[in-house]
Amino acid sequence: MNSDHFESTLDIEIREGLEGLTPGRISVLYRRAPLFRPVQDQTRLWTMFEKSSLVLTAWKGTRLVGIARVLSDGVMYSFICDLAVEPDVQGLGIGKRLIRSVLDRCAGTDVMLRSPQGRFHEHAGLKPLDDAWIVERS
Ligand SMILES: CC(C)(COP(=O)(O)OP(=O)(O)OC[C@H]1O[C@@H](n2cnc3c(N)ncnc32)[C@H](O)[C@@H]1OP(=O)(O)O)[C@@H](O)C(=O)NCCC(=O)NCCS
Repeated sequence: MNSDHFESTLDIEIREGLEGLTPGRISVLYRRAPLFRPVQDQTRLWTMFEKSSLVLTAWKGTRLVGIARVLSDGVMYSFICDLAVEPDVQGLGIGKRLIRSVLDRCAGTDVMLRSPQGRFHEHAGLKPLDDAWIVERS
């Protein structure tokens, strides 16, 4: 069964904004996914969300099952900072749908994502970069 079939049977709603999110809910999802972010520091975690350009959430009824968090200037570059899906619904097309929703909203910009995992990203239509450079936070 392909992920598009699951997408429709899962009845997932994608929402934009912070409504329904709390640091606690985000932490639970990130710990489970897992996505390594400062979940032990709720103030820092919430600041990450408040200062983002775009936050998309995936809901199955009242259950938060996915998050995409983006920094974007709206005209040149967008950076997907976080992408996470609850493990029991991974592989069913939710990650891809979140990426598609980001691409729709960030149309006209280069959309980047930093991740050691390549296979999902290739399936979701991203290409690896060999010219990216970084100064990591201390
Ligand atoms: C990465 C992640 C967000 C993917 O979400 P998901 O809902 O499981 O992904 P989807 O079901 O939309 O998968 C989309 C495609 O990628 C493939 N895929 C998903 N995870 C994969 C994996 N680990 N290895 C290989 N392919 C994978 C699916 O088969 C699907 O391919 P298809 O469209 O050809 O059928 C999710 O696995 C996750 O939360 N991982 C932990 C956090 C993380 O690593 N985030 C990324 C860095 S920010």
